[in-house]
Amino acid sequence: MRKVHVDLGSKSYDIEIKNTILDEVGKKLRELSKAEAAVIVTDSNVGPLYAQRLNDSLTKEGFKVSVITFPAGEESKNINVLNDIYNKMAEAGITRGDVLVALGGGVTGDMAGLAAATFLRGIDFVQVPTTLLAQIDSSVGGKVAIDLPAGKNLVGAFYQPKAVYIDPELLSTLSDRFLYDGMAETIKYGCIKDSNLFAMLEGYQDKEELLENIAEIIELCCNIKARIVEEDEFDTGLRMILNFGHTLGHAVEKKFNYTTYTHGEGVAVGMAMLTAKSEAIGIAKAGTSERLNKLLVKYKLPLVAEMKTEDFIAAIKLDKKKAGSSLTLVLIKDIGTSILQKIDFKDLENYL
Ligand SMILES: NC(=O)c1ccc[n+]([C@@H]2O[C@H](COP(=O)([O-])OP(=O)(O)OC[C@H]3O[C@@H](n4cnc5c(N)ncnc54)[C@H](O)[C@@H]3O)[C@@H](O)[C@H]2O)c1
Ligand SMILES: [Zn+2]
Repeated sequence: MRKVHVDLGSKSYDIEIKNTILDEVGKKLRELSKAEAAVIVTDSNVGPLYAQRLNDSLTKEGFKVSVITFPAGEESKNINVLNDIYNKMAEAGITRGDVLVALGGGVTGDMAGLAAATFLRGIDFVQVPTTLLAQIDSSVGGKVAIDLPAGKNLVGAFYQPKAVYIDPELLSTLSDRFLYDGMAETIKYGCIKDSNLFAMLEGYQDKEELLENIAEIIELCCNIKARIVEEDEFDTGLRMILNFGHTLGHAVEKKFNYTTYTHGEGVAVGMAMLTAKSEAIGIAKAGTSERLNKLLVKYKLPLVAEMKTEDFIAAIKLDKKKAGSSLTLVLIKDIGTSILQKIDFKDLENYL
């Protein structure tokens, strides 16, 4: 069993990584919680695959289990579906001492986490992430949210789970596209913090070898994220380095209405563009861009999007994280070494 501790004082928790841990969630949760009832929130793809096993594991430990299933997809991450979840939790008689289990990808974790943060002013919740992206990124760190028509993740909270249980075996049913989507974030961690991780990813021959080693990769990524979140729980400084490739990536996702490019694909384009430019202007070491591009292509990720410089600038201006006339870009000097570069908005073009 691999374990990563997230030290946040009274809000500390463990991330446990192990094949078939799905069947032990009940036992593990029983050690943490006296709850009578557990509510599983899942989506219409993941529920049929894994909810019964989770349900059995919880029932065995005496939890009264109810399952709430919503239609899979980012389109569901909204106030109407959240409202359905609240109503179903009320119907199931969930009380303050009960626990919510989020079983699914980032959409499920974000929305179920927000339900847990707000229902009865907050009930305990644990994450059982089922996509690579959720296992290495979204389930860790306590950011929970839903989207508004005006933009993604505009309504949310910081609310830490009581535990994160990661079963790498669940990735066997994930489509290749979503596997490689998560690989973009893995490559990002290598770029910003861990040249060793980057080299490991360079070394795998094929998807089979990658999956044989995925538990170790997940542990390395969770460790990096945990250390950053410990420093900056509320995203006011250091946590920004996790946004490497994201400012441009969000622009790509948005330009194509979140349909053509996955999140990871957008981030890949952002990382590739920024690194090419920072190498050209002498910030990144010579050869960095080529190494990054090669790895992105290996994991079936794009390097460019059909977009003009003006499109990027317009989208970045609208990005909620931008305040005032300057913005902070995350750049890499070398694989594994990142810097924050504050730039004037009018100079943005030089980085595109
Ligand atoms: N909270 C954070 O810190 C944070 C960080 C990054 C991303 N996010 C959010 O995460 C979301 C994206 O997450 P995602 O990519 O996991 O999307 P997702 O939850 O929609 O999952 C992707 C698809 O895979 C399916 N799926 C999930 N697990 C599966 C499995 N094991 N087998 C078969 N199919 C499976 C889902 O049903 C869905 O169709 C976005 O909403 C994003 O805003 C949040
Ligand atoms: Zn991301």
